[in-house]
Amino acid sequence: MKSFTLPQTSLTASNIILGLMRISDLDDGQIRELVGTARDAGINFFDHADIYGGNHLCERRFGDAVTFTPAEREEVIIQSKVGIRDGFWDFSKEHILSSVDESLAALRLDHLDVLLLHRPDALMEPDEVAAAFDVLHESGKVRNFGVSNQTPPQIELLKRSVRQPLAINQMQLSITHAPLIAAGVAANMAVLDQSIDRDNGVLDYARLNDITLQAWSPFQKKFFDGVFIGDRENYGPLNDALDEIAAAHGATPSGIAVAWITRHPANMQVVLGTTKPERVIESAAGSDIQLSRQEWYRLFTAAGHTLP
Ligand SMILES: NC(=O)c1ccc[n+]([C@@H]2O[C@H](COP(=O)([O-])OP(=O)(O)OC[C@H]3O[C@@H](n4cnc5c(N)ncnc54)[C@H](OP(=O)(O)O)[C@@H]3O)[C@@H](O)[C@H]2O)c1
Repeated sequence: MKSFTLPQTSLTASNIILGLMRISDLDDGQIRELVGTARDAGINFFDHADIYGGNHLCERRFGDAVTFTPAEREEVIIQSKVGIRDGFWDFSKEHILSSVDESLAALRLDHLDVLLLHRPDALMEPDEVAAAFDVLHESGKVRNFGVSNQTPPQIELLKRSVRQPLAINQMQLSITHAPLIAAGVAANMAVLDQSIDRDNGVLDYARLNDITLQAWSPFQKKFFDGVFIGDRENYGPLNDALDEIAAAHGATPSGIAVAWITRHPANMQVVLGTTKPERVIESAAGSDIQLSRQEWYRLFTAAGHTLP
């Protein structure tokens, strides 16, 4: 398992993260097995959000099931998010502070290692966010901060007010949903939709500003519509390529789909969403696979992206 010091922080993080969005129906034993398998595979980073399961439910299930000794707590990085509410988004100071308190109670922890602003709130007041972050940082409740699904100008706007570094931007990325990579590859091609920049250059901005990108939904075809692995009807050439490259590396297609993301020189992290320990193992194995340029581009084009 590759790990690295997250730029702008003192955290040593695995480049694979276990996401806990889908654990609400697991029992305590299943959650412990999932988390224990991830730890055994070298994963030390766990991703939550107040909204997962609705009203802190997944955080509560995790807190009920998993107890860390003080030494273990030092080894793991617990991240959560705030900002998505029932029918609206909310980056107000009052909501950020109360939601973090509820997250800590649900997780049974005294601090979060990382807090992300989940999706850009159109009504955001940067000074209010800054005031909330100051309270959370000074009280020791949150040690590091970042964002999710935000464009470079949105981050720049926040940075004018927020005093703490914004170290992370969590974005959707898989081989089949890769606009943040594919647009740059097809820059300035008027005849290609792929050329449309949907995120204001978030990939290059992150690299230029030492912001770590975390890739969510690494196996989903598009937006929560099932996985491309094994979907031969819609992704035949991609599955052929995944199978052949997996065989060449002694891995599985899931491991190769992860390796496609970690091969990118931006040093991204991959947020796994599986609830199956065996899938954690095969996916985490992708961290140690170094795809060749030819393999990486073969997967990219087999998924339907164009090299103009
Ligand atoms: N920041 C954001 O806006 C945002 C949005 C969404 C998610 N996230 C984070 O990202 C994490 C991952 O998202 P995700 O769950 O959508 O990612 P994902 O890992 O692409 O998808 C997981 C889902 O795909 C299934 N799956 C995985 N591999 C499979 C395979 N080989 N064959 C069949 N089914 C397979 C899993 O089923 P099994 O459980 O049965 O394996 C699970 O239902 C979440 O847990 C959350 O932490 C963040």
